[in-house]
Amino acid sequence: MITCSAPGKVYLFGEHAVVYGESAICCAVELRTRVHVEKNDDVIIESSLGTTGPDIKVHPYVTHAIEMIKSLTDLKGVRLKIESDLPVGSGLGSSAAVTVASIQALNHLYNCGLSREDVAKNAHKIEMIVQGNASATDTYVSTMGGVVMMPQRKKLPLLKCPVIIGNTKEFSSTKELVGNVANLRSEFPSVIDPILSNIGQMSMLAEGLIIKNDYMAIGKLMNVNQGLLDAIGVGSSKLWDLVYAARNCGAICAKITGAGGGGCIVAIAEHKDTKGIAKAIEDAGGEAIITKNTEEGVRLESFNG
Ligand code: MEV
Repeated sequence: MITCSAPGKVYLFGEHAVVYGESAICCAVELRTRVHVEKNDDVIIESSLGTTGPDIKVHPYVTHAIEMIKSLTDLKGVRLKIESDLPVGSGLGSSAAVTVASIQALNHLYNCGLSREDVAKNAHKIEMIVQGNASATDTYVSTMGGVVMMPQRKKLPLLKCPVIIGNTKEFSSTKELVGNVANLRSEFPSVIDPILSNIGQMSMLAEGLIIKNDYMAIGKLMNVNQGLLDAIGVGSSKLWDLVYAARNCGAICAKITGAGGGGCIVAIAEHKDTKGIAKAIEDAGGEAIITKNTEEGVRLESFNG
């Protein structure tokens, strides 16, 4: 049996804007999805969503990953089991992580010789098929790890501060949210395009601030980014509750991460404030996760026979 894992991610800047070619900064976090694979007579996929055969309704990403590997090698059957630290539909990149970890595990099981670049590329293709429109950000960051500026694929230094996530526990559909922004943009291009371009500008400015470890200035810009995400319609009252709970308890900043609509916020803070911020998020009805960014993308966890 072979096990590979891939990390989830948080956006410091630029979700949604990156779909239109603007810059974004996204970092891998130490919350991982593990995929175990072994050869089998049939295809069996097991996860917290249930046990199925190839099934594009229940397990669309994994089903497409198996199809992709089938196009490269003689794959007849496989048993694939998914375990994840990442809540599904929460904006933390659970779909990218399961796609990347599945492709890499199958790549090792069948000796397909795919490079990490190939894994990232194929995972992006699968997200495009399933979601209709997706930037390469989530799949690239999950494959390569680290703090990455997209679409330039430029690695930046890791943040030296804790990352606190607040989960509203409300499911959000990336496909639907990306579609809503597209509709708003086609109705009011002269209003929405400058907002997206402003978000891209913030990512460009933040690049230098991350290199200088200037977390106060990064935080000011992340808070501005939050306001602009709300302006393009991806906020919610629950997300704002968690944003203000975190900010009022000492977070340097707090904003939506990912598609929004529900899902999660991300806050950065000094070490001494993390526990208080986590408690404030829980008191406001969210689930708090204290984590950190990581340089490690997809990795082989174990290889037994
Ligand atoms: C979703 O994690 C991030 C979005 O920007 C969509 C994408 O980049 O594909 C909303």
